[in-house]
Order: sequence, then C-alpha cells, then structure tokens
Amino acid sequence: MRVSVIGCGYLGAVHAACMAKLGHEVVGIDVDPWKIGELQAGRVPFFEPGLPELLEEVLAAGRLKFSTEMADAQGAQVHFLCVGTPQRKGEYAADLRHVDGAFAALLDSLEPGNVVVGKSTVPVGTAARLAEDLAGRHPDAVLAWNPEFLREGFAVKDTLAPDRFVYGVPDGGPGERATAVLDEVYSAPLALGTRRLVTDYATAELVKSAANSFLATKISFINAMAEVCEVTGADVTVLADAIGMDERIGRRFLNAGIGFGGGCLPKDIRAFMARAGELGADQALTFLREVDDINVRRRMRAVELTRTLLDGSLLGKRITVLGAAFKPDSDDVRDSPALNIAAQLQLQGAAVTVTDPQAIDGAQVRFPELTYERDLDEAITEADALLLLTEWDEYKGLAPEHAARLVRTRNILDGRNVLDSRAWRAAGWNYKGVGRS
Ligand code: UGA
Repeated sequence: MRVSVIGCGYLGAVHAACMAKLGHEVVGIDVDPWKIGELQAGRVPFFEPGLPELLEEVLAAGRLKFSTEMADAQGAQVHFLCVGTPQRKGEYAADLRHVDGAFAALLDSLEPGNVVVGKSTVPVGTAARLAEDLAGRHPDAVLAWNPEFLREGFAVKDTLAPDRFVYGVPDGGPGERATAVLDEVYSAPLALGTRRLVTDYATAELVKSAANSFLATKISFINAMAEVCEVTGADVTVLADAIGMDERIGRRFLNAGIGFGGGCLPKDIRAFMARAGELGADQALTFLREVDDINVRRRMRAVELTRTLLDGSLLGKRITVLGAAFKPDSDDVRDSPALNIAAQLQLQGAAVTVTDPQAIDGAQVRFPELTYERDLDEAITEADALLLLTEWDEYKGLAPEHAARLVRTRNILDGRNVLDSRAWRAAGWNYKGVGRS
C-alpha cells in the first residue's frame, strides 16, 4: 500500500520505517528540514536500538523516502498522523497545535477514498472533532484513531509486533472501510496473531490515556510502598516480588526507585486530568494527582538520601550521577528524574558530574550548569558519592572493588535498586537503596 506518515519524531520515524518493513511504500513528512535530511541520509536523530539498521534496510530497498512537503502525501491511500502532543506551557492540558496544524495541511493533499489514521496521544473528543472537519472537506474520506503503545528502547518491536491494535472508527460503512484498510496495512502482524479491537473514537482515545495512567499508578503505588518500607525497615524489592507473584497483580512496572519520567507518562496523566475536568468528570481522576505527587516526592527523597549519605551536608561535595536519560536504552532526557535530581543537588551546593552512555548531548542543552563526563572511570574519580539513577547495563555491571579504587569516599545511592547490595557493602561501600533498610 502507499502510505504517508506525517510527523517524523520518535513515533513517526519508527512508524514510517516499520511500515516500509511491512512491505508498504512510505513517505515520511516533517516540517523540520534538518530531521528530514538526517533520516533521508539514513541517520536516526535519536537513540533507538535496532532503528538505524532498519532504516538503512528500507531506504536501500527504495520503500521509504522523506520530505518536508505535505504535497508529497498525495498519492498515498493511508495517512498516519504521528505529531507530538506536548504539555501546554503553564497548564496541564495537551497542546494540540501540531495535530491541528498537520491535519489542516493534510486536508489539501487528500484524495477521494483516503483513510486518515491518528496515532498521536490526544484528549478524548479530538477524533470526533477532526472527523467533522474531514466530513466538511472530503465527505468520502474517513478518519480512524489507532493509538500507539510503543515504548522507547523497544520501539521497533512494539510497532512490528504490538500487544494489540486498537482501531477507533465511525459507525457503518465508513468504519468498515477504515477497518479493512487498517487490516491490510497491518496484515503481517495480524497474521501472526496480534489481537485487534474495533471501537468508537472515544474508547480508542481513552484506551491510550487509561493504559498510561495505569502504568503510572502502578509505579507510584510501589513507590508509596517504598515510603512505608523506609519508615518500617521493610524491603520494597522483596515486597514487589511477593505481591507480583499474584498473577492478578503481576511483577512488571513494580520497580520502586526515583519514579517515572519521559515524554509520555507525566504529561499524559496531566492531560487526562485536565480533559476530565473539562468534561465535568474531574473527581474520577483526582487519584492521578496523588500519583503525580508520589512521583515528584521520589525526586526529593533521592536528594535527602544523598544528603544522609554525605553526613548531612551537600556543600562542596563531589557527586557523580550515573545516568541522565529518563530510562536506559534511550537518549531522551525529557522530564528525566535523574537530571532533575542532579540539578537539585547542584543547586544545594554540591558539585555534580553527570555521565551517560547516550544522553549527554541532550542533557547539556537542558542543564548546562552541570558538569558532564562521557568516560565512566573519569566521571567517578574522586567522587564523594555515586548515584545510580538510570539503570544502564554498564552501571549495573560496575564492579564495586574497581569503583572503590577511583572514588574519594565509598558512598553509593542505588536509585533503581539494581545493584547487589551485599557485594557493594562487602567491598566497603556505604550502600543505600530506596525503600529498603
Ligand atoms: C510509555 C508506555 O510504557 C508506553 O506503552 C507508551 O506507548 C509510551 O509511554 C507513550 O505514551 O508513547 P516510555 O515513556 O517509553 O513508554 O517509558 P516506560 O518504559 O513506560 O517508562 C516510563 C518511566 O517509568 C521511566 O522513567 C522508567 O524508569 C519508569 N519506571 C518504569 C519505573 O520507575 N518503574 C518501573 O517499574 C517501570
């Protein structure tokens, strides 16, 4: 099929390459000429395992090209809207300027019978509004909402073999046509058994908001348990293992630590609360405010634990933060808990050095006042405390005896509870995890 992908950020670049991998002829469109130049040259402007190889493969096969011109979407039967929906400045609500702008521009390039497929995370009600606009301009085109559930670090796998597809479509013939077209687009993963649900627009939009809210709630739940463990001497990692053995609960997303960050969970729960407020259902989601609060408290708690490790004072102390990305296998530093903690420590008088295998360039732009060091050994040399805040494999595999020879004082805060505390203590370290005595 001939497919266009509007917006070539994280979601769009991955989606475009994956659609080409599925055998479609794809054009990726973005207003940013630099991004398009990089992608067309086979360079991925962010770190995502497996994507550079995939991009090279589909570019070489001639099935994918990129353009800054919306007119190049002409000729495609299916148009995927993959633009970002960031948090509005000074508000909780989502900023829909990119969605509205891209959609309006796309209207000029549509041809009879085209299917427009929204993938961006939007407030419930957006699809119905856009469908009305579409009907006014192109009565024979149809809109579907097909939310994306990819995780950074696993984006290619999550796109080619997702847990499920959700199609939000209108009633009747147009809905059936959109469903048939999407089934054809995704025929390969569907043939492998990927489940798919066909719903109305509002349900499809809400599936995405609900899924991210549930994941955020699960993380904040275990972090709330960590707070209780900290005052009782219990161990949150054992607690998570034990409750996770109950299949109804499940162990995944029960890792206590410094909380969630990134470009999705924090802004999505806030946008969901804002939308519920607009709809008069704000009471239904007040618990998400607590989820957000617990999450933000983890960052302050990490600062306090570091102060305790350093005998009550941060002033003039040399602290090395291991990890700047919001999670491993990503160079994304949007709302990164690790960087937020690093900045707070620096503001409170410590001299903070940050290291990360992929995220230093992005981190430097956001927090230029911090010191950055790419080499791990260099970064930890003469430190008074190490803080493991993003669980990259190289930090999980750090040998306590080796690190002990480099630092000034053997203090370590394991902000993700991923180190073997006994091994670190045996090597003479003052080890602190989170939510454990
Ligand atoms: C999240 C969702 O997991 C995806 O399903 C969704 O498609 C995506 O948002 C999106 O809306 O686009 P992502 O932001 O890539 O994906 O990251 P996650 O793997 O969900 O991690 C989010 C944060 O939670 C990270 O900071 C991570 O360190 C933290 N986390 C995760 C924990 O603190 N504990 C856990 O047990 C799991």
